[in-house]
Amino acid sequence: MTRLIIAITGATGAIFGIRVLSHLKECGVESHLIISKWAQRTIEHETSFTVSEVRALADVNYVTSDMGAAVSSGSFQTDGMVVVPCSMRTLSAIAHGIGDHLVHRAADVILKERRRLVLVAREMPLSTLHLENMLALSQKGVTILPPVPAFYNNPRSVDDIVDHIAARVLDQFGIAAAFAKRWDGRMRSAASRDSASAIDVP
Ligand SMILES: Cc1cc2nc3c(=O)[nH]c(=O)nc-3n(C[C@H](O)[C@H](O)[C@H](O)COP(=O)(O)O)c2cc1C
Repeated sequence: MTRLIIAITGATGAIFGIRVLSHLKECGVESHLIISKWAQRTIEHETSFTVSEVRALADVNYVTSDMGAAVSSGSFQTDGMVVVPCSMRTLSAIAHGIGDHLVHRAADVILKERRRLVLVAREMPLSTLHLENMLALSQKGVTILPPVPAFYNNPRSVDDIVDHIAARVLDQFGIAAAFAKRWDGRMRSAASRDSASAIDVP
């Protein structure tokens, strides 16, 4: 069985983390969830979920102050960790090995154990410092996966865009996302292209 650590931090886009969690549940992946204080704020502000409902999607929950949590130790075996969305604060803390917050400590453990770490880094525009931190992490094997929408799959709704990002996150761990609409090299016909309306944003 695959076992992943999922951290939701206080960047905008809490729905990306929620969608990843719900897809992992459908795929039978064991999920270990850490929600930062500021992610609790974005979950309640940006989504129709309560923090308790998000926690209920995970198999195991932790609080950020619990340095005695299983995910704080390398001896606890996991297949990796995704921070989705990842704030610039958390990205910076991981880049500099600061571990006084369970999200940062768990990521530090993933790095020392040379396991897979994916950061769905969200900020706009990016400062030189953000870019330097991303480069430093990328050079250490971390995947920086910003939640940038794709349009080649002809999204019709915000849900489609969120699902596409969630599928690309699952791809990083080799988890098959049956719902993913993938580029297959075939262009849509001119007729269907002409009849397509703009993206439907509710
Ligand atoms: C509504 C809202 C949206 C935010 N969006 C972002 C963002 O997109 N990127 C970011 O780096 N920080 C964002 N922040 C600021 C972070 O929440 C803040 O830096 C916080 O200290 C991050 O802490 P954490 O990484 O422990 O969650 C946002 C804050 C709020 C309240």
